[in-house]
Amino acid sequence: MGLSDAFPSLKRHEALQPLSREHMNGLIQARALSRAAHADGSARRDAIRAFVDAWTSEIHDHFDDEERMLVPLKQPEVLRQRLLDEHAELRSCAARCLDDARAAAEDVQFVKHLGSLLHDHIRWEEREYFQFLQSAHPAALDALLGEAGAIERDRPGARARHRLTPPSEEDSP
Ligand SMILES: [Fe+2]
Ligand SMILES: [Fe+2]
Repeated sequence: MGLSDAFPSLKRHEALQPLSREHMNGLIQARALSRAAHADGSARRDAIRAFVDAWTSEIHDHFDDEERMLVPLKQPEVLRQRLLDEHAELRSCAARCLDDARAAAEDVQFVKHLGSLLHDHIRWEEREYFQFLQSAHPAALDALLGEAGAIERDRPGARARHRLTPPSEEDSP
């Protein structure tokens, strides 16, 4: 199955596009962890190390951005709570990796769990959560275009592939 299968064909709202682009890298991390769980200790250490790098440079702030921008929008409590619960669980997994990456990589079940948790979280956001938000709140998302532009400026993985340099101030809405 290709990575693009995770992304519905319906066009993503512009304010959600930087976050959706970062989901591509998140899925790559998730699949690397799941594969490594079936491989040897050195493969698991590599996968955990790569996850820690992605967490520090991108995923940590991505979670904060989602909670700041999206959680305040009116939404069914079941959706809001799922987002917060899964972020909390992934944050605690990341804390364990940051605390002792080597020990985390020794634990095959942990590596497997982290891979599937991250994968399922991203798939749910793309298929359900973002879909709900963009159909329920197009105007509220329009108001978040400035924040989306700031994410693109701050994090390379959030930029469109053709955009190799950060968007200039004039580009921002
Ligand atoms: Fe998330
Ligand atoms: Fe996300």
